[in-house]
Amino acid sequence: MLPESILRSVVAVMLAVAIPARAAPQLITKRSSELSLTAQLKLADTAIERYQLLPNNQDFVFDFTTADVPIATSQNFPPLVGTGISFNMGELPACSMSFVHLHPRATELFTLTSGHVLSEMVPQAGVVDSDGNPRVISVELNPGMLTIFPAGSFHTQINPDCEAANFTAAFTSDEFAVSMVANQAFSFSDDVVAATFGQSIAGEDIERVRDAIPTTLAIKVEECLSKCGKQKR
Ligand SMILES: *[C@@H]1O[C@H](CO)[C@@H](O)[C@H](O)[C@H]1NC(C)=O
Repeated sequence: MLPESILRSVVAVMLAVAIPARAAPQLITKRSSELSLTAQLKLADTAIERYQLLPNNQDFVFDFTTADVPIATSQNFPPLVGTGISFNMGELPACSMSFVHLHPRATELFTLTSGHVLSEMVPQAGVVDSDGNPRVISVELNPGMLTIFPAGSFHTQINPDCEAANFTAAFTSDEFAVSMVANQAFSFSDDVVAATFGQSIAGEDIERVRDAIPTTLAIKVEECLSKCGKQKR
C-alpha cells in the first residue's frame, strides 16, 4: 500500500487535522473541548491530565494493518504528543526507489524486516570524500540491519529486487514531515533556478524538468522492471 498512497498520506498527515476531538473529561473547559484531542493533549498541564484525556486502553494501540496512513504521528496517534517520536511501517515495492528527500526536523532510523534495500545519503555541506567531493554514504541493507539518516540529510532508498522490501522507520519528531529535494528546488522562480544551476538551464527547459520530476514516493526503476518481467504500473 505504500507507493503512490504514501505521498498523499504524508500530505494528509501534515495538512488534515481531520482527527475528530473526542469527548473531553471534566477538567477541560467547554471551549478547549472544541479542540482536537491532539491539541488538548498539547495544552494539558501535566502527564496525569494527558492520561485522563486517553481513558481507553485501546487509545494506546496503533494498528498499521488498518491505518489509512502508515505513519503513527501525534496527529493520528495522540499518545505520541510530547514524546518526540513517530513511527512508520511500510513496504518498498519491487524495483522502486523513494524520491530523494529529507526530514526537516527528524533523524530517521530505518530498518529492514524483509527484502533488500540499497540506500544513499548525502549528509551536509563540508562532508567530503578523499577526492574532496561531497561524500555519498551508500549502504546495502538486509533483514535485521539498520541505518541512520540524520535530520536534514538528503537520502533515498532503492529496492533493486523483484520482491517487495518491508521496513520500519522511527523518527525523532512526533510531527512527521518530508521535503522533496528535486521538486522543492525547482519550485523557486525561473531566475533563481537558472542561477542556482549556473545558467545551464533556462526557460522552457526549467518547465520541462519541473513536469518530469516524479512526485510519487516509489519511482519505478525501468531496468529492474524488465529484469523482473514486471509492468510499470
Ligand atoms: C510485507 O508486508 C506486507 C503487508 O504490508 C505483508 O502482507 C507481507 O507478508 C510482508 N512480507 C514479508 C516477507 O514479511
